[in-house]
Amino acid sequence: MPHAVTLIGFYRGKEEGESGKEVELAGTVEVCFDKRGANASPPSPTPPKNSPYICNMTVKKPLRRKGIGWHLLKASEELISQMSSLKEVYLHCRMIDAAPFNMYRKAGYNIIKTDSILILLMLQRRKHLMCKKLPVVDSPSKSDMSGSDEELCSLGFSRSWTWSNQVVNCDDLQSGLVPG
Ligand SMILES: CC(C)(COP(=O)(O)OP(=O)(O)OC[C@H]1O[C@@H](n2cnc3c(N)ncnc32)[C@H](O)[C@@H]1OP(=O)(O)O)[C@@H](O)C(=O)NCCC(=O)NCCS
Repeated sequence: MPHAVTLIGFYRGKEEGESGKEVELAGTVEVCFDKRGANASPPSPTPPKNSPYICNMTVKKPLRRKGIGWHLLKASEELISQMSSLKEVYLHCRMIDAAPFNMYRKAGYNIIKTDSILILLMLQRRKHLMCKKLPVVDSPSKSDMSGSDEELCSLGFSRSWTWSNQVVNCDDLQSGLVPG
């Protein structure tokens, strides 16, 4: 069992290049499975020891608002569902960051605790600790990842992950997995 893994999302644009559609690295996210992988530290509220923890999600600026962040989040959740016996997943989100906050709320994350205002004295932004209880699923098709074509791309990825730098094809978005 790894301490952490990094998921990588690739975007295949609509433009045809010489070698077909151009594929570019679009975003990344880290999934930590225990406290050695997690980078959360006091005085911010920390998740329970060894809980699955999602962090450092980022999508390339020109590729934002295309659903890539959402796919990275769903792929992270599916990976946790498959790899961890603990189904409560935690993450931190800075209070001023509307984009990720909206995404996490839309995905069902709730605020557990918020940094004290005193954290500002340490020149840090206030953060929410957020948590979601993942559903126990018998098969990926019963998870909330089934549905549209785009979502099925992400599902295709999660069914096929391995410990190598495998990249799985789908129409516009590809995802790969690199051990942390
Ligand atoms: C947060 C981030 C990863 C989202 O990636 P993205 O690919 O643009 O997000 P998606 O297109 O998948 O959007 C998913 C949902 O997030 C929310 N969202 C995304 N961008 C938003 C914005 N600019 N304003 C408000 N809500 C936004 C929406 O709820 C959206 O759902 P909708 O399209 O149905 O409204 C991206 O904005 C980013 O890299 N931000 C900088 C790094 C960062 O803040 N990381 C999070 C650390 S906690």
